[in-house]
Amino acid sequence: MQIVHTIAELRAALKNQSGISFVPTMGNLHAGHLQLVEIAKQHAHCVVVSIFVNPLQFGANEDFGSYPRTLEADCEKLKAAGADIVFAPNVTEIYPDFDGKNLNQTMTITPPPIASELCGASRPGHFSGVATVVMKLFNMVQPDVAVFGQKDFQQLFIIKEMVKQFNLPIEIIAGDTMREASGLAMSSRNGYLNEAQRTQAAQLNAALQSMVQALKNGVKNFSALENTATQKLNQQGWEVDYISIRSALTLQPAAAQDQHLVVLGAAKISNNQAGKTRLIDNIEVHL
Ligand code: PAF
Repeated sequence: MQIVHTIAELRAALKNQSGISFVPTMGNLHAGHLQLVEIAKQHAHCVVVSIFVNPLQFGANEDFGSYPRTLEADCEKLKAAGADIVFAPNVTEIYPDFDGKNLNQTMTITPPPIASELCGASRPGHFSGVATVVMKLFNMVQPDVAVFGQKDFQQLFIIKEMVKQFNLPIEIIAGDTMREASGLAMSSRNGYLNEAQRTQAAQLNAALQSMVQALKNGVKNFSALENTATQKLNQQGWEVDYISIRSALTLQPAAAQDQHLVVLGAAKISNNQAGKTRLIDNIEVHL
């Protein structure tokens, strides 16, 4: 496995490769990421994984500074998982006009309007930052296939839309969400929680599960289901950002006739450092 830090090194490493699968990550890898690498291996000969904590997708009061950076351990895991190339650039490599303080990225991707709903409502600019860095990474790696986790359902939706709207010759593949035995979706941000908080964190998935059950039982009063789950989580000490039942095909609010739905949630839970950790989860439902 080769570890490269610059675009020039990356291009040299990829020169004679045909059939490239790409897994973009922000590092601090867990079993969920390694599963994406496994999927990537099934789709192309050469697997590239990027590790880059992208400042453009973090808001001013978010955890960019404290986001865990564990490059050495990540590379060991990727080597064992059978990745071929790790691309771990610094900020200047991705943002050439970075002056040590400001990124000075004068052109960005404008995501579709859905990017200002759900996670985008409380994280303005987040999906523009994601789409912009993914577009840059796509241009650097030039993959045939790229694999994204289904846990970030809205992100996956926006990336697919970007690929369609910009005619990118890249097949986007979704990897299932990996979960702890408790149902808690694996996430790098779970690392902010202690054992007791991790146990409590499974309540988010439990709330979504009970909504899924109600939908399968034929309940069509979507806003009542959303309100009940929100109230319950708030009573359990969460600060709910949103709980929403949407069409999995359009991400628009679910309509009674929709057969393919997704139940999404985002909420903050108290963490180890007596701050709050924002967790997200979703479950697809076929009625
Ligand atoms: O899902 C992530 O880890 C990030 O949003 C991504 C896709 C690597 C872009 O920075």
